[in-house]
Amino acid sequence: MNLTSRIATYEFENPLMNASGVWCDDAEKLNEMVQSPSGSFVTKSATPNFREGNPSPRYFEVPLGTINSMGLPNLGFDFYLDYSIRFQNENPGQVNFLSIAGMTLEENLEMLHKINDSEFKGITELNLSCPNVPGKPQVGYDFERTKEVLTKTFEFFKKPIGVKLPPYFDIAHFDEMASILNQFPLQYVNCINSVGNGLYIDIDKEEVVLKPKDGFGGIGGAYVKPTALANVRAFYTRLNKSISVIGCGGVENGRDVFEHLLCGAQMVQVGSQLAKEGTGIFERLLKELKEVMNEKGYESIEDFRGKLKSI
Ligand code: DHB
Repeated sequence: MNLTSRIATYEFENPLMNASGVWCDDAEKLNEMVQSPSGSFVTKSATPNFREGNPSPRYFEVPLGTINSMGLPNLGFDFYLDYSIRFQNENPGQVNFLSIAGMTLEENLEMLHKINDSEFKGITELNLSCPNVPGKPQVGYDFERTKEVLTKTFEFFKKPIGVKLPPYFDIAHFDEMASILNQFPLQYVNCINSVGNGLYIDIDKEEVVLKPKDGFGGIGGAYVKPTALANVRAFYTRLNKSISVIGCGGVENGRDVFEHLLCGAQMVQVGSQLAKEGTGIFERLLKELKEVMNEKGYESIEDFRGKLKSI
């Protein structure tokens, strides 16, 4: 069975990856991602310098998913760039995704310049959708600002790059965002980041479960799958064919992976469930995806990718 997937000119053995933020913040976890059977991996969204992130508890698991308000804890951009260059040099022909999430436009441009001037041959992910830094609204919900960030980026940036988007909930927003994204030579969009600023509460204690932001945090897991699939589908049907879609949200089993692919995703990322299960999940998801494809008589992802039927 052929699970080959593509983004830009890159080919991956299968479509599975981690979602940025999960299993990718330090060398030990990144090494586990490299050793896992996932098709690729993305590094933790980086800021120019090391960040401690928000105070704990800042991550909480519940049966239907997760809530987090990490606040961009990361080892600093140089670590993730160096790790990525070392990975590509040790694994000829393979590349990873390098995620950046500057706190300001200037920080993003500073990191993009470093990537542009480096030996990095992989794909950059510009994160426009971190919901967890107090006082910093998500760029992806400000259409004019998004256009400005992309305009400034493509004035000099010459390497493959995609954007991580927040979920949208209105058809007018799908239309408006897609028309902005279609003006730029992006390789992909990644739908979706967590559903921002949900609230999970402990009924016995009558209190929130996260310390930062009075308990408000990004929701992931089963709660968000219908929103994720809608965003994948909405952008797949609106974007230029040169812009791929990466699907992220609510993937717990092989059927969920199949659904993202059916909506048009090229790669499918796993966040909450990877955090719960560890990198062993990739072997299970590959087995389950092959089972669904087998039942349906599909031999390659291209047999069904994007072919969701309307009624
Ligand atoms: C964090 C959360 C996100 O959803 C994101 O895109 C980037 C960073 C965080 O809280 O660390």
